[in-house]
Amino acid sequence: MKETILAFGLLAGILFVVSVPSSCYYDNEIDLYGADTTLCDTANLRYSVEIRKIMQDHCDECHISTSPSFSGIPFETHAEFKAVAMSGALLDRINNAGNPMPQTGLMLICNRQKIEAWVKAGAPNN
Ligand code: HEC
Repeated sequence: MKETILAFGLLAGILFVVSVPSSCYYDNEIDLYGADTTLCDTANLRYSVEIRKIMQDHCDECHISTSPSFSGIPFETHAEFKAVAMSGALLDRINNAGNPMPQTGLMLICNRQKIEAWVKAGAPNN
């Protein structure tokens, strides 16, 4: 009897330690760092600098054909990315929590605002 209680206690303890740190954990930037409340500078955005930097950090992994996890949808040239920007798919997916791009979860709001501002400016190749 004593052994049973001891074994049960030990099991419960192990389950607790194993389950607690992993519960309620979502590996996306919003959950990790919170919504970005600092000012987001969306002035003078350049495709070649600010936009490409966001893509490099969050998209290239699956949207550059030489990447091992290439999705089959290339965003390698400005024209390719502009096409998806103009179709509406780009803004839809980066803001779609139910079907987000990147697939791991929504990016920080400031990254999304920058892409949005660039798209609204006509997705220039600057
Ligand atoms: C882990 C891999 C992965 C990452 C990272 C990723 N994507 Fe994707 N993306 C995919 C796959 C796979 C598809 C095709 C399936 C789908 O639409 O969900 C796709 C599809 C898309 C589409 C839809 C294209 C269309 O014509 O409808 C857009 C837009 C898109 N991605 C944008 C992005 C952007 C922008 C980023 C970075 C901010 C990004 N993706 C990061 C894997 C990824």
